[in-house]
Amino acid sequence: MPDILIDTAERVMTITFHRVDKKNSFTRTMYAEMAQALTQAQTDPAVNVVVFQGHESVFSSGNDIADFLQTPPTSQDAPVFQFMRAISTFTKPIVAAVCGPAVGIGTTLLFHCDLVYAGDNAAFSMPFVNLGVCPEAASSLLAPQRMGYGRAAEALLLGEPFLAEAALEMGLVSRIVPPTEVNALAQRQAQKLAAKPMTSLLATKRFMKQGQADLVAQRMAEEGALFGRMLAEPAAHEAFTAFMEKRRPDFTQLSAAS
Ligand code: COA
Repeated sequence: MPDILIDTAERVMTITFHRVDKKNSFTRTMYAEMAQALTQAQTDPAVNVVVFQGHESVFSSGNDIADFLQTPPTSQDAPVFQFMRAISTFTKPIVAAVCGPAVGIGTTLLFHCDLVYAGDNAAFSMPFVNLGVCPEAASSLLAPQRMGYGRAAEALLLGEPFLAEAALEMGLVSRIVPPTEVNALAQRQAQKLAAKPMTSLLATKRFMKQGQADLVAQRMAEEGALFGRMLAEPAAHEAFTAFMEKRRPDFTQLSAAS
């Protein structure tokens, strides 16, 4: 069974993360498949809405760390950056259904979704600093805008997780329901969107995002370039190796040396 399932029915394309044994972490192949699906959906008249969903127990634990260590995304053509560009420039509505952990890009991709529904077990985190890297997917721009600077600083500088209630309060999430009901709710809302006049939907989303597109693209490119370089540096190497070795990272020697 593939790690990304793509199904289109009644003008809704549903992209399901299907790698639960690895907590739905994203490999290069998965990013490439998701970028390709979005590119196709963008021009396909049979698709009006896209839904992203994971499993009741986990949305996504972000980048596959082993994959990142082996093949770090050093160029802007890397699948991870293709996916980020595709989701951030997608002009049709995007709905997300989030349960359990949403780590790294598992959270930052949500800044590019229009409606986000969460299970009461959802836990969002952007632990880039703890991993020795920097924000991605324009989250250094969009998190302060969406969450307010103080809460974004707790999430991005401290890398502290926040739960579904906090995400609802800050407007990242539209509604919280039991995990067993999230995917069905997202599908119902997507069906409602899919039945609306497409030209009105496209115009409304475009107006809501007007003025942001260039800023987002520029920030994403700047973050991506630095992120790629930081992956090759000792802090990220220590953080990622520690994760693979199931131990706590130790940055103390690094700070003394640098
Ligand atoms: N990359 C690669 N493998 C990952 C992964 C990731 N991002 N997240 C989880 N996995 C793997 C684990 O290595 C483990 O593999 P194993 O069974 O072969 O040992 C398996 O998925 C289960 O993960 P585990 O950590 O045991 O599950 P958990 O329920 O205790 O914790 C998380 C779940 C999501 C909280 C935890 O896995 C986590 O913090 N993952 C890393 C998230 C991260 O830092 N992402 C940002 C990357 S930039």
